[in-house]
Amino acid sequence: MAYKNIKVDTKGRVGIITLDRPEALNALNSALVDEMAQAVDAFEADDEIGAIVVTGSAKAFAAGADIKEMQGKSWPGTYREDFITRNWERLASARKPTIAAVAGYALGGGCEMAMMCDFIIAADTAKFGQPEITLGVMPGAGGTQRLTRFVGKSKAMDLCLTGRMMDAEEAERCGLVSRVVAADDLLDEAVKAAEKVASFSLPIAMMTKESVNRAYETTLAEGIRFERRLFHAMFGTEDQKEGMTAFAEKRKASFKHK
Ligand code: CAA
Repeated sequence: MAYKNIKVDTKGRVGIITLDRPEALNALNSALVDEMAQAVDAFEADDEIGAIVVTGSAKAFAAGADIKEMQGKSWPGTYREDFITRNWERLASARKPTIAAVAGYALGGGCEMAMMCDFIIAADTAKFGQPEITLGVMPGAGGTQRLTRFVGKSKAMDLCLTGRMMDAEEAERCGLVSRVVAADDLLDEAVKAAEKVASFSLPIAMMTKESVNRAYETTLAEGIRFERRLFHAMFGTEDQKEGMTAFAEKRKASFKHK
């Protein structure tokens, strides 16, 4: 598959998607987002891939949805085409584990795309923000919803209403990112984390992800019930037998279902 706006690579069992529109700081136009969806489809279908890393450049993960592409849009066209939904949520609906590796700007749709991944590893150069209010709109790809769940109401309101950026340290402090690493090490660290995830049983990792995500969609009692059902089902897998037997035998587990 020949892509124009992203680069796709693999390292072992890790699929790497690199946003690649340097002339526009990786602004997310519809062509890029369509390609991203195709790349996610391809990695999801590939049995050799156990986890996906999404990254950008040293200067920008992505500086948002493409403002020049959006500029001329009007209502009800935006409503009719369900603007921003088309293909944007493909990354969020990935069933394999996904990690965003963010350096530089992750603004507007860029921050929203990072939040569609399961977790975010940030370079110490990362800057996050939802500056849509400065353009006369508000976040339209999950920013008001996912950011609020990540960082709580006060910080989400602060970012969405003032449009200010926060640095990597603040992003880690408030729970938006799971860890901050030196910019030069970002991709290596993200791929290392993804390789770790991909070394485990894939169905177990997928169910774990599904269960964590369920916490954002349901009540505590229903979430616990959901978790318990998946937990019980895991005892029907060879990988549970292998994982626990390997522990008892003091050896490294060799999971079958990758
Ligand atoms: N859309 C389209 N083009 C963009 C872009 C965007 N979101 N962000 C940057 N670019 C383009 C610039 O227009 C510029 O192109 P030209 O060289 O052709 O003029 C090029 O990328 C480099 O950008 P700058 O010269 O502005 O670079 P800078 O280093 O001076 O500033 C920046 C960097 C602070 C990130 C600045 O580019 C900026 O503020 N970008 C817009 C950020 C933004 O508002 N994002 C939200 C978009 S709306 C959205 O995302 C909606 C949603 O919820 C889905």
